[in-house]
Amino acid sequence: MQNFEYRTPTRIIFGQGVIEKLPGVMAQFGKKILLTYGGGSIKKIGLYQRVLELLDGFEIVELSGIQPNPKYNPSVLDGVRLCKEHKVDVILAVGGGSVLDCSKAIAAGACYDGDPWDLITYKVKAKAALSLVDILTLAATGSEYDPGGVISRTETNDKIGYMDPLLYPAVSFLDPTYTFSVSRKQTCAGIADAINHILEQYFCEDSTLMNDGFCEAGIKSLMINGKACLENPTDYKARAEMMFVCTLACNDIMSLGNSSSGWPMHGIEHALSGYYDITHGEGLAIITPRWMKHILSERTLPRFVKYGVNVFGIDASLPPMEIAEKAIEKTYRFFEGIGIPMHLREVGIDDSRLDEMAHHVAVNEGLEKAYVPLTEKDIKEILTASL
Ligand code: NZQ
Ligand code: ZN
Repeated sequence: MQNFEYRTPTRIIFGQGVIEKLPGVMAQFGKKILLTYGGGSIKKIGLYQRVLELLDGFEIVELSGIQPNPKYNPSVLDGVRLCKEHKVDVILAVGGGSVLDCSKAIAAGACYDGDPWDLITYKVKAKAALSLVDILTLAATGSEYDPGGVISRTETNDKIGYMDPLLYPAVSFLDPTYTFSVSRKQTCAGIADAINHILEQYFCEDSTLMNDGFCEAGIKSLMINGKACLENPTDYKARAEMMFVCTLACNDIMSLGNSSSGWPMHGIEHALSGYYDITHGEGLAIITPRWMKHILSERTLPRFVKYGVNVFGIDASLPPMEIAEKAIEKTYRFFEGIGIPMHLREVGIDDSRLDEMAHHVAVNEGLEKAYVPLTEKDIKEILTASL
């Protein structure tokens, strides 16, 4: 078991109707709020209007139009400018992971005099950040309970994930009913993203029995409840459990004491959405079984056997390699079965930029230190197998 330190300062307020606590919560942070949101889904579900009613008496500045794979320019830069111009006290992010991630970058950028890109690229360490409160509307990323944000810069094809303890939300409101309206495509992407977050922690060199059980239960819950959400989008119990598991899946709690895997599938996926602006969870679903096949060896075999037996109930008396291959096949079939496109070509990616992307990943993602080290050649092979 590895040494670790752990502290999650985020206050989670979970359940139907919890938004009524919003005014009291916001009052702790001040009067001037930057309200951030995306392309309008929060207006369609009535949440925007309810937030404004509840925050009557506060001074609100708005930043709307934050896109999926949130962009440094204009969203982060506009948000930072608004915070500085209006001397904002606190940010309220209402939306999915993209709105939350963008708001985290704004929160840090607002307290920094230079170019906020310095912080995202770790050129400069942030000394402070504005407090961030969020109301989550899409279960997937875990941004509501982690210190990370992922920001894209279109002109350089960069999609950079960065972490800083200052970026933990102060308070996250998690009301599963807000996720009832999430489309089938985005629900599937959320299921795939969260399953992959757990796999990134499960496939590592050194783990504990407890962590393995936590991860296996998390994956099973996402598969079962995810399917239930797709069958009946307003199934509260299923949406609630999916939201809760997604929240836990990305803040390290499932792998405390494990060695780090280096998150190789995310490293590769960042290039897919950095270059082609595809949906993150779909990119991960495509990469996952190809990465698994690529790293399957005598060394990694016991992990695959454990995964196959405990998650999919594969007969433990079968030859280990057969169990592993079946487990990879079942992973693929699960994603395919819920309707995720399972080839890069289906999401608009052909072979014309695979070399460039493999190089970008090899240079920027540090995967030579992953659980199974990946060279540029390995990355290219995984991408090619994903076509
Ligand atoms: O923009 P609006 O109109 O709000 O529509 C969004 C968007 O089009 C829509 N949506 C959100 N809530 C909805 C809804 N539609 C109907 N009803 C609702 N209740 O869904 C679309 C996708 O939203 P987005 O926020 O992009 O999705 P997600 O939450 O999956 O976030 C993806 C981003 O998070 C990053 C990804 O890379 C990607 O950029 N990640 C962040 C992580 C983190 N902070 O820890 C970890 C992840 O690995 C991930 O990389
Ligand atoms: Zn992810």
